[in-house]
Amino acid sequence: MKSAISFAALSSSLASAQYFGVTSARSGSAIQYLPMNAGNETIYLGGQALAYCPTNVGELGGCPENHGQTNFAVNSNASTLELGTAVPGGQQVYADPQTGALKYTIPHSAAMSEGAAVVGWSVEYGGTLGRLRFAFELLACQDGNIWPVYAVIPNATLPDGCLSFDALTVNQTEPAAWEFE
Ligand SMILES: *[C@@H]1O[C@H](CO)[C@@H](O)[C@H](O)[C@H]1NC(C)=O
Ligand SMILES: *[C@@H]1O[C@H](CO)[C@@H](O)[C@H](O)[C@H]1NC(C)=O
Ligand SMILES: *[C@@H]1O[C@H](CO)[C@@H](O)[C@H](O)[C@H]1NC(C)=O
Ligand SMILES: *[C@@H]1O[C@H](CO)[C@@H](O)[C@H](O)[C@H]1NC(C)=O
Repeated sequence: MKSAISFAALSSSLASAQYFGVTSARSGSAIQYLPMNAGNETIYLGGQALAYCPTNVGELGGCPENHGQTNFAVNSNASTLELGTAVPGGQQVYADPQTGALKYTIPHSAAMSEGAAVVGWSVEYGGTLGRLRFAFELLACQDGNIWPVYAVIPNATLPDGCLSFDALTVNQTEPAAWEFE
């Protein structure tokens, strides 16, 4: 059954949000200047984003164009981080308390790991680039061609051989996708 989608529903849940793309910086390493992306319910450096445009929304012209990239927005009132999506309800980023892995909620669901770390996100603006910060240090841990991002949460067991990085932001005007899978 085709779900009913009105034009009102096509407007973002974060209508006044400041969207931004994130690029990692760690000079002299394999993660110098990689884009931060969302796919497979994880956040990683490198690779491509896995954006999804439902057919019925696409037919209404409701899907932002996506070329394999991801962007984000901080809700500064709640100090939470959302994916830059147009889907009603949004998609929230959180860190799994057991593994430290950064993950995000699937569309139309608020479900996340019990004890997930959600708050503590901010962007420090200055000059042309900003800097995304979290309450816990962020590390990138290589898995094949991509570098999944982890938060150093007390008692979480992260993989070995991870690299810290600066998460540089560049402002963008619109969400990067309808939703990420
Ligand atoms: C997502 O998961 C599928 C199935 O495990 C895998 O083939 C694919 O490479 C993954 N994509 C990314 C971007 O991690
Ligand atoms: C933050 O709170 C203010 C005042 O309540 C509100 O006007 C604004 O829309 C909120 N911003 C977000 C991103 O929710
Ligand atoms: C990026 O957006 C923030 C928040 O809207 C703003 O304070 C900052 O000046 C912007 N940065 C640039 C380089 O435009
Ligand atoms: C981490 O583990 C220690 C020892 O088991 C425990 O005392 C502490 O409460 C745990 N901290 C968190 C944040 O779960």
